[in-house]
Amino acid sequence: MNLRAHAKINLSLAVGGVRPDGYHELRTVFQSLALHDTLRFAEADEGLAIACSAPGVPLDERNLVWKAARLVWAAAGRRGEPRGRVRITKRIPAQGGLGGGSADAAAALVGWDRLWATRLPAGRLRDLARGLGADVPFFLWAGTALGLERGDEIHPLDDAPSRWVVLVFPPFGVSTPEAFRWWDEDERPRAASPEPALGVLGTALSDVERPQADLLAVFNDLEAPVSRRHPELLESRRALEGAGAEAAAMTGSGSTVFGLFGSRLAARAASDRLRSVARRTIVTRTATRLQAGLLVG
Ligand code: C5P
Repeated sequence: MNLRAHAKINLSLAVGGVRPDGYHELRTVFQSLALHDTLRFAEADEGLAIACSAPGVPLDERNLVWKAARLVWAAAGRRGEPRGRVRITKRIPAQGGLGGGSADAAAALVGWDRLWATRLPAGRLRDLARGLGADVPFFLWAGTALGLERGDEIHPLDDAPSRWVVLVFPPFGVSTPEAFRWWDEDERPRAASPEPALGVLGTALSDVERPQADLLAVFNDLEAPVSRRHPELLESRRALEGAGAEAAAMTGSGSTVFGLFGSRLAARAASDRLRSVARRTIVTRTATRLQAGLLVG
């Protein structure tokens, strides 16, 4: 049995105050991409086995796909160790803000559930997804969605208008805790709100009702603190804008930068121009909920 684990970008990402659990309040609009990993699940007589096409991916209990197996097995009330095999074909570059590991984790929850015919209700899968990481619940929904709280309270939105997307990979990586720490250092002292835990994100529900167009602004609050430490990031965004992108921004905690384009031709031309400044580029397009969602169909 095969499942696709689609990458995401954050069309927008607003950071609020720090919560009692140490996470930051977020208001982000996620958007699925056609770019995806593939996970192939199969029965096994004993134990779990993960194989992956990309080197450097842990193939043991450190992998979220393994953790997902444990969670589904336990939720199904089954005894002993989970039994199954999965082969991950990786196309989503790791640690770039495209959610590759989280997308695989969400696909694994659904994959193990189907392989073992556990038939957990969707709400249960969403709870398990939250436990695997702040980004994981989005990948069950996919398409275009608003993420609140830690980014894990998902409100599905109508699919955004289709766009071609050029992904640019600058020659450095950023870890998620690092990006949030830099935001704390630079931006938190300047935040005006006396109650940062509520901060700018206090009006969550009215945001959901706001017109779709408002929600589709492109920006990322983590971009300035990352750019300050890695000026190449700003260069990549400017290069995308110079190559005709309708809008461009860093995705997630970086370091990938994306540009939106109206046609494949325009996206290809921009990608060719950027190849001289970027380590790597990928041309893809946005994917709808129907194309990318794990709980549809
Ligand atoms: O949940 P996840 O593993 O994706 O988060 C990694 C780290 O990123 C957290 O431990 C935290 O330091 C930071 N983070 C945060 N606020 C969020 C999401 C992540 O501070 N909303």
